[in-house]
Amino acid sequence: MTLIATDDRNSDQVAYWNGPAGERWRARQQDQDTLLSPVAELLLRRAAPSPGEVVIDVGCGCGFTTLELARRVAPGGRVLGVDISGPMLARARERAPADLGVEFIEADATAYPFEPAAADLLFSRFGVMFFAQPRKSFANTRQGLRRGARLTFACWREPQRNPWLMLPLEEACRHVPRPPAASPEEPGPFAFADEHRVRDILESAGFESVSLEAIELSLDVGVGRGLDTAVETAIAIGPVSRALEDQPVELRSAAAASIRAALARYQSGNAVSLPGAIWLVTATNP
Ligand SMILES: C[S@@+](CC[C@H](N)C(=O)[O-])C[C@H]1O[C@@H](n2cnc3c(N)ncnc32)[C@H](O)[C@@H]1O
Repeated sequence: MTLIATDDRNSDQVAYWNGPAGERWRARQQDQDTLLSPVAELLLRRAAPSPGEVVIDVGCGCGFTTLELARRVAPGGRVLGVDISGPMLARARERAPADLGVEFIEADATAYPFEPAAADLLFSRFGVMFFAQPRKSFANTRQGLRRGARLTFACWREPQRNPWLMLPLEEACRHVPRPPAASPEEPGPFAFADEHRVRDILESAGFESVSLEAIELSLDVGVGRGLDTAVETAIAIGPVSRALEDQPVELRSAAAASIRAALARYQSGNAVSLPGAIWLVTATNP
């Protein structure tokens, strides 16, 4: 499969999610879904998909939320999962039951020609913060929504409210150079941390009744298997994985030892739970 609609400004993200990062997400699919399951539950409850509805899951990755949505819109409904990552979509396709109303498309949500005014719900778990031109991307996806359709997505709040990602980074940076700080609007996990920016993007893309609810989470980076898994998780994803990429093995090992010592303070039985914070964003297509 190849990407069928692209926007040149997103080519860095296409390369990133089709490179080692996409492969890591595919390999870690089960652990990622366990780690992020509290967010899926919150989103699904808020979005309230019902039988017969048509849904678009943007940045659907390995497809966990796409399949959950498809179960909830059955019978009669269908879900389109859209993503730019070949490896992650391959995982999504292989785990999708044949009788579920679900389709996965390798495409950039900024440019994909969605069936006009067909969907009742636009949904995303952390798949919308990587657009170079977010207004254009949301305006394009809005074309696929019928009047009155709902938008429901989750995005991360500021780094300092997300110690589950930033504490391991601080530890890694005792040993390797700190990655250059991303500007607040640069595509990436924290690009939608600013409430006013998100509101502005969605309103200028044509959505109305935009609402952002601040939610505090406790995320088990050990995914129920304890400290070794917590260290593996911390190293495999997010800013730490970028900081450690291409570093010599002795520095990676030293970083892992520091991360382990820091995470040990959060261990309770097999859980290693750290705080995180998201915006739960909702809006309506007029
Ligand atoms: C943090 S991952 C989240 C994946 C999935 N939603 C989950 O919760 O497991 C972000 C996803 O957004 C996808 N993505 C980034 N830019 C995109 C774009 N322009 N169009 C469609 N998908 C995109 C990436 O390929 C990646 O799968």
